[in-house]
Amino acid sequence: MKLLILNGPNLNMLGIREPGIYGTVDYNAMVEYVAACCDALGIETEFYQSNHEGDLVDAIQDALQYADGIVINPGAYTHTSIAILDALKAVALPAAEVHISDVTKREPFRQISYAGMACQGHFIGQGIEGYVNAARFLQQIITGKGTVPQ
Ligand code: DQA
Repeated sequence: MKLLILNGPNLNMLGIREPGIYGTVDYNAMVEYVAACCDALGIETEFYQSNHEGDLVDAIQDALQYADGIVINPGAYTHTSIAILDALKAVALPAAEVHISDVTKREPFRQISYAGMACQGHFIGQGIEGYVNAARFLQQIITGKGTVPQ
């Protein structure tokens, strides 16, 4: 079972960007940690990050060729991108949305998630552990194995 773990704009700045909100772990360390946790769960991973909306749409479409599901943190495109929502709906792979911060307690403009409308799972405000919990959730959906995170 293989998952695309897709990150949108400014997530390459993890560790530098607003550490009080997003923590001090940088993007590469996050990838290493999530890949190791997924490996231990028997989940193969493909990571991709882009600051560009069209690249994220391309990555979602390409996932149809090799992935069983998608973990996505679209960054700010969460709240604006109908193109990402449409791409997720087009490929119709099982998908889970991750937000490192608790967007439900932040500004009003962060209260809508277009991408989330095409996701079966929502892992919000769990820090980088949210990526691992989302992967476990998709593993459960895809293979029927493992435990659904609380
Ligand atoms: C984010 C929340 C978004 O509102 C923000 O624009 C991000 C990161 C999160 O992981 O908490 O870039 O998706």
